[in-house]
Amino acid sequence: MSNNILIRPAHGGGRNQAIKKYSPTESMVDLSTGINPVGWPVPLVPAEVYNRLPEADDGLIEIAQCYYKTQNILPVSGSQEAIQLLPVIFHQYGILPENPKIGIISPCYAEHEFQWKKNNFSIIHLVSQKVDDVIESLNVLLLINPNNPTGELIAIETLNKWLSQLKKNKGYLIIDEAFMDAAPEHSMIRNNLPDNLIVLRSVGKFFGLAGVRCGFVIAQAEILSYIEYHQGPWSVSGPTRWLIKKALMDHQWIENNKLNLKKASIRLDNLLSHYFFKIDPQSFITGSFLFKTVYLNNACDLFEQLAKQGVLVRLLDKACTCSSCSSLYKNISQPNKGLRFGLPANEAQWQKLEEILELHVKVSEDLNFIANMIDITE
Ligand SMILES: Cc1ncc(COP(=O)(O)O)c(C=O)c1O
Repeated sequence: MSNNILIRPAHGGGRNQAIKKYSPTESMVDLSTGINPVGWPVPLVPAEVYNRLPEADDGLIEIAQCYYKTQNILPVSGSQEAIQLLPVIFHQYGILPENPKIGIISPCYAEHEFQWKKNNFSIIHLVSQKVDDVIESLNVLLLINPNNPTGELIAIETLNKWLSQLKKNKGYLIIDEAFMDAAPEHSMIRNNLPDNLIVLRSVGKFFGLAGVRCGFVIAQAEILSYIEYHQGPWSVSGPTRWLIKKALMDHQWIENNKLNLKKASIRLDNLLSHYFFKIDPQSFITGSFLFKTVYLNNACDLFEQLAKQGVLVRLLDKACTCSSCSSLYKNISQPNKGLRFGLPANEAQWQKLEEILELHVKVSEDLNFIANMIDITE
């Protein structure tokens, strides 16, 4: 047996491990994911739902068709399941020519690249500004809209243009819309779905139901049938299907949640801008409704200090380092190093975040003062 240990990409959300590693004095506030911390209020699931096998004709599809406004839809156990299966089916069913060109707008959620590479596809990293230069040669263009972690939102007109350019070459556009629910007017989902469009949706983020593992794939019937064939008979559990039917029909909660997320997102943006401008004037903030990403110098140090003080954020340490990506962060000394902040769950968490950032501003002002004094005396 060789010592060939395989390692999967790291993600946010490892609160237990972080507590062990950084042992903060108070309980750890987990802002390391983009999951809504004030999720849909989950009711009690009847015992018989646990007792029976899930059934495909339980009404989930029809309810999802209404919510997502399309007929061509398949439930999966988290959009992650589709992320894993898409390269498998593209490989297995000869959908692409030999040595296909797969472009991924990067940096982005690491699982996409990881899964395509796992299936022996080679990947071209792209920034959105360069897509026009290569689109006609691509067989697949994959992007997250709005992107995680950069928050970049690509306009529907641009996506439609890329879709028709790809079609000339029998190419596919795959859009991961995991963070789209708060502003669905930007979604590419429609009733008459183009043959070469595949969209992924998640109920983990907006509904705050990441633990139940449910998402949806929207694509032409043939692609959906390939995915269904590979996922097996009961991929989405009975209790999950029961809950998601109710969540997708809770229109009042959905509309209120959109407003609440918009407000919370503005509050987080204001708070981070206020403190990070003082901590590092070169820093800049991007993001979407469910998270904000701060690119700054010394992100690693600050990540560790925050964790020790009881606030866990996501350190973006494994992001893309190709030349086109790096050029986006030209003023930052360690390209692509950023911290992603999810939304605090309650007032106590907002306060804690603010107090800790205030402390860091004070420390950096003191350090600057000492540095200036040394300059003067030398
Ligand atoms: C952009 C993006 N897509 C998809 C996923 C997978 O989410 P889920 O499997 O919970 O739907 C994630 C998880 O963080 C993500 O960030």
